[in-house]
Amino acid sequence: MVPAGHASGKGLRMRKEGRRRGRAGRMPGARWLCVCLCAAALGAGLRAQEGDAAKLAPYYPTPETIVAQMLQLGGLKAGERVFDLGSGDGRIVIMAAQKFHANAVGVEIDLDLCRQSLVRIAKLGLEKSARIIHGDLLAQNYGAADLVTVYLLPDSINGKVQPLLDRQLKKGARVVAHDFEFRAWTPEKVQNIADDGEGRSHTLYLYRK
Ligand SMILES: C[S@@+](CC[C@H](N)C(=O)[O-])C[C@H]1O[C@@H](n2cnc3c(N)ncnc32)[C@H](O)[C@@H]1O
Repeated sequence: MVPAGHASGKGLRMRKEGRRRGRAGRMPGARWLCVCLCAAALGAGLRAQEGDAAKLAPYYPTPETIVAQMLQLGGLKAGERVFDLGSGDGRIVIMAAQKFHANAVGVEIDLDLCRQSLVRIAKLGLEKSARIIHGDLLAQNYGAADLVTVYLLPDSINGKVQPLLDRQLKKGARVVAHDFEFRAWTPEKVQNIADDGEGRSHTLYLYRK
């Protein structure tokens, strides 16, 4: 990706922040207690994992109409691997798998959002092509990605995500950023959407390594 200097995004809540910066009945008692303790320990471990990771943006979902445009701009094709960094309720992952027949992976730190995503993926029968990793998006490897989608705060994108993607992405991999650009890269295309149907404007940036 080529160095550049571009003007920044705009917007509402997320953008302002950017500017500011069983069944137990039949189970023997001991076994049930063990299951409970294991579940509690697992829950605590997962929460601890959440606590250690940097929060790179609050949860602020991309409208579905904009999700479709992000994936189209990214030229997502059937069978390609796409990662959504901070996947929220899984809407990008789900649309990528359902409508674009891609192999989609979301990484999300918030356990409740992961659970919501997994419930919806299971309801839609997309388990084979849509996956959610509960964890820190900075601790993953994106070397297999054909497309990466990003809707995170500017400081996170430019301070933490860009160096990681520079190191890991294979040649030809694409990145689509929503509203906040990668300042060190030159976009191949910038798409402005004046109104998403709810009176909000959006800017999408396409980059290629
Ligand atoms: C602005 S929301 C975008 C959600 C989704 N990508 C979308 O466009 O609808 C950012 C998401 O990143 C998640 N997030 C923030 N820091 C994270 C981290 N270090 N690792 C994984 N997810 C993170 C938040 O919990 C939130 O769901």
